[in-house]
Amino acid sequence: MMVTKTVKDLRKHIKELHLSPVGLVPTMGALHEGHLSLVRNAAAQCPLVVISIYVNPTQFNDKEDLKNYPRTIEADLHLLKEVLRKSDIVFNPDDKEIYPTEDKRVFHFGNLENVMEALHRPGHFNGVAQVVSRLFEIVNPDIAYFGMKDFQQVAVIKELVKQTGYKVRIIGNPIIREADGLAMSSRNRLLEPEIRKKAPVIYKTILSASEMTDKLDIPEIKEYVRKTIENENGFSVEYFEIVDDAELIPVSKKRELKTRKHYFGCIAVKAGKIRLIDNIEIQLV
Ligand code: PAF
Repeated sequence: MMVTKTVKDLRKHIKELHLSPVGLVPTMGALHEGHLSLVRNAAAQCPLVVISIYVNPTQFNDKEDLKNYPRTIEADLHLLKEVLRKSDIVFNPDDKEIYPTEDKRVFHFGNLENVMEALHRPGHFNGVAQVVSRLFEIVNPDIAYFGMKDFQQVAVIKELVKQTGYKVRIIGNPIIREADGLAMSSRNRLLEPEIRKKAPVIYKTILSASEMTDKLDIPEIKEYVRKTIENENGFSVEYFEIVDDAELIPVSKKRELKTRKHYFGCIAVKAGKIRLIDNIEIQLV
């Protein structure tokens, strides 16, 4: 694999290699098995994979979160050596390469900016759209791969592609979990040991909730999720919403569920000082 920090070098290599389709895996580093599964899928479909490792400041609404975000480039490169091929590229730019001038673009995503993460992390998706659109312009990929743990992010990026007309197919890969069920996340390594031990309660609870629509209505399911998780010391639920997978409109009553649609229970939890998200498909009866 080759590693580059500059847009100029990256473009030169992509041009020289002249391979297609080009797969892009955007990441913020601190790689784990979830990222590696994206890279493996990309490599199975694309003769050239570009993985970007860049902690994008514009998507952090919380400056402390940006400061504390894990940066582990040496370990990341070590892991990538195992999964990337000779011609694949790691793009590890600094801020000036991505934003030579301040990015003042403002994106609008309709209902997607009125629910869940958008409400709790103001400006977050605008920053995601800024960096992802920059990466699309730099790499010009045919396919881009994202993890479905960031359920709303995938919907936002699909909408971005629709609005801007980028010729890129967006693939959302299934969530990869630890053996105890916790969704893999770069932030897991920041959890205090006691909190980490209890963190599987998040998945366990939404898994049970996903099978409850035959017995309980939505407000009761939401109440069950909140109570069960908050029963653990140090855990508080920011939101748990059941939304359809297209427009992400929250459902408030069971009678609104349509059997031809797919619904997901999406959750954000403060686990100690760390914010975690997860989601699961809701079983319809
Ligand atoms: O999901 C992430 O890691 C980031 O939001 C992304 C897509 C790499 C943009 O910085």
